[in-house]
Amino acid sequence: MKSKIATIKEEINNYSFDSAENLEAFRIKFLGSKGITKELFSELKNVPNEQKREVGQDLNDLRNFAEDKYNHFKSQIATQKSDDNKIDLSKPGEDFEIGSHHPLSLVKKEIISIFSKIGYVVSEGPEIEDDWHNFTALNFPPEHPARDMQDTFFIEKGEKEIALRTHTSSVQVRVMENTQPPIRTISPGRVYRNEAISARAHCFFHQVEGLYIAKGVSFADLKQTLLFFAREMFGEKAEIRLRPSYFPFTEPSAEVDVSCTLCNSKGCNVCKYTGWLEILGCGMVDPNVLDSCGIDSQTYSGFAFGMGVERIAQLKYRVTDLRLYSENDIRFLKQFKTGI
Ligand code: PHE
Repeated sequence: MKSKIATIKEEINNYSFDSAENLEAFRIKFLGSKGITKELFSELKNVPNEQKREVGQDLNDLRNFAEDKYNHFKSQIATQKSDDNKIDLSKPGEDFEIGSHHPLSLVKKEIISIFSKIGYVVSEGPEIEDDWHNFTALNFPPEHPARDMQDTFFIEKGEKEIALRTHTSSVQVRVMENTQPPIRTISPGRVYRNEAISARAHCFFHQVEGLYIAKGVSFADLKQTLLFFAREMFGEKAEIRLRPSYFPFTEPSAEVDVSCTLCNSKGCNVCKYTGWLEILGCGMVDPNVLDSCGIDSQTYSGFAFGMGVERIAQLKYRVTDLRLYSENDIRFLKQFKTGI
């Protein structure tokens, strides 16, 4: 029995571990419920009585020896595993996909940054508006066609009409009601009109409208401001021209064209061979509007302008179908990666 124990001890001592499977095989062989030490313990009853104590001690030592070896390698394998999970900082990094800003966000940001250079601050307001802020304060006569169901999404008709705003001029009414001049503000935001969706029209789009009110503001100031904008946006060679127009809230009113930068005004299919592209509406704020909003029209004058962000984006990125802006087609959006 004693020599058997010695041989097994030798075997345990020489056992080499290289994997978790190997370790488990060791446990089963030497320490398992049907393993060698268990078997030896069961043979203890055959040992003559006077040797039992000593052999029992040897067996205990053998089991402890096997257990120590087992535990030692077990912890060694565990640390090896956690070493494997450590990040190798010398490896090259993994590629990741960079997102992109929506083209309308890019253009909106650019418009805001151009006007902020000349002192305009951003103002925002609700998309659900009452009749006063969207129409009445802006000098829309009661029967004006723009109030008609064809153009406006009404939420509540009747005594106090509630609708989705049709332009962000409503925000400027709120600014005028709450601030005294000088006022220099731009209002970016989404607006809604009840139109059939096609490549050229949509039931919602985005605007940036501007307002400047102070003492002695003239039409010349308006023209110069818009020329500054056009050159910042479309390049220093850009020219503008103003055509007489009509809006209830401005008098006089104009529509503004910018020289076609795609063909250098020579004529192309984008400018329909006119050399000009329409970009915005503008005019001197009607004194009725100033008075409605609590600003003394005898003391102050001002100008306003409004542009569609989609229209500017269309000219900048040559997007020919308005629907692309809201369809979330990843192939379209991916083209506007700016690398930041
Ligand atoms: N509010 C007008 C529109 O939505 C644009 C505009 C703003 C025109 C200011 C003139 C002055 O079409």
